[in-house]
Amino acid sequence: MEIFRGFFLIFLALGFQVAAGKQRVGTETPIIGVLSQETYIISSYFPNETYDSYIAASYVKHLESGGARVVPVWIGQNEDYYRRVVNYTNGLLFPGGGTYFNETGGYGEAATHLYNIALEYNDNGIYYPIWGSCLGLQALMYAALNGTKDIRVDCSLKNIAVPLEFSDGYQSSKLFSLVPKDVIQTLKSKNCTYNQHRYCLTKAVLKENDLLNDWNILATNKDDNGLEFISAMEHRKYPVYGVQFHPEKNQFEFKKGKGFPHSFDSIKTAQYFANFFVNECKKNANGFSDESVESESLIYNFNPKYTGLKSAYYEQLYVFLKEDFRKHQLL
Ligand SMILES: *[C@@H]1O[C@H](CO)[C@@H](O)[C@H](O)[C@H]1NC(C)=O
Ligand SMILES: *[C@@H]1O[C@H](CO)[C@@H](O)[C@H](O)[C@H]1NC(C)=O
Ligand SMILES: *[C@@H]1O[C@H](CO)[C@@H](O)[C@H](O)[C@H]1NC(C)=O
Ligand SMILES: *[C@@H]1O[C@H](CO)[C@@H](O)[C@H](O)[C@H]1NC(C)=O
Ligand SMILES: *[C@@H]1O[C@H](CO)[C@@H](O)[C@H](O)[C@H]1NC(C)=O
Repeated sequence: MEIFRGFFLIFLALGFQVAAGKQRVGTETPIIGVLSQETYIISSYFPNETYDSYIAASYVKHLESGGARVVPVWIGQNEDYYRRVVNYTNGLLFPGGGTYFNETGGYGEAATHLYNIALEYNDNGIYYPIWGSCLGLQALMYAALNGTKDIRVDCSLKNIAVPLEFSDGYQSSKLFSLVPKDVIQTLKSKNCTYNQHRYCLTKAVLKENDLLNDWNILATNKDDNGLEFISAMEHRKYPVYGVQFHPEKNQFEFKKGKGFPHSFDSIKTAQYFANFFVNECKKNANGFSDESVESESLIYNFNPKYTGLKSAYYEQLYVFLKEDFRKHQLL
């Protein structure tokens, strides 16, 4: 009887572990770095002010909606800074927006540093995920080519939500193998993934650059001219994911006439991507060694500005100055 009860308790404990998502090592309270970018597309909202980088607040809220906290990551820093970023955070998000990758000290250069360091961690047995949305997905390919080549092609699909065209075998991908049935049904049949881009990546251009051995294309769509582009992809070996669409806008952008999907089902798809990625980050156990450095580094130290009256897309932006970069060095 006692033995029987012992087995039952072990069984129960195992059951809880499985129910909790097989969390063995890692953290229940992940902190995710979000890369900032040059201000090309937002500078006109602030005619009398000059900022050095920004992050659209929707990306921050998206991660927060999945149960994460955020640390802003600066452009134009040295390798040591980006090493601290990876060492202290549980994952990274490269947001959408608009910039050139070839700028010295810009988003492309920062993404390349961070990507290389993240892969090094993974190679050393430390699970460290990265997510890229829109420009962020494109930056993943720039980084995968070690910052040597911008392989984006011209493409146009704007102000529109579409269903995803899934590629063969998507069911066995990391990104979609555990997706709930109702969410996959929505992704396949409803106008729920929001597109707003003038560049994209295609299977052909990945093939030309020998990237298909490393990357698995999970879904595609066609642009206004019938060009098939990559809508979702993941690295075959590392926990690195990219989507061309904007899950964060379903939840957090509201400008009228832009076609943002806000239906119950569309929000559920967006929430799936947030939950998925935050859960990936929970598998990592990195963290700040110093609590005061942690609290000084969190995005809570900054206030987003309401830009909805000026911007065609963004309700709120975090804007930063070089002085902020200096003050929040994760030191
Ligand atoms: C910007 O500065 C100009 C000239 O000083 C002024 O007329 C204008 O009202 C200012 N705009 C804002 C938004 O503060
Ligand atoms: C970066 O790329 C843009 C667009 O292709 C180009 O106009 C610009 O001259 C390039 N800048 C540098 C520094 O190469
Ligand atoms: C990536 O580029 C950097 C210089 O930007 C170079 O030091 C490094 O060796 C390159 N890595 C690979 C794997 O080619
Ligand atoms: C999706 O949007 C297109 C127009 O862009 C429309 O023709 C189609 O009926 C919509 N599909 C659904 C399922 O709402
Ligand atoms: C990485 O972070 C740990 C604490 O989380 C710290 O002990 C270690 O010194 C850090 N390493 C580097 C290279 O910053």
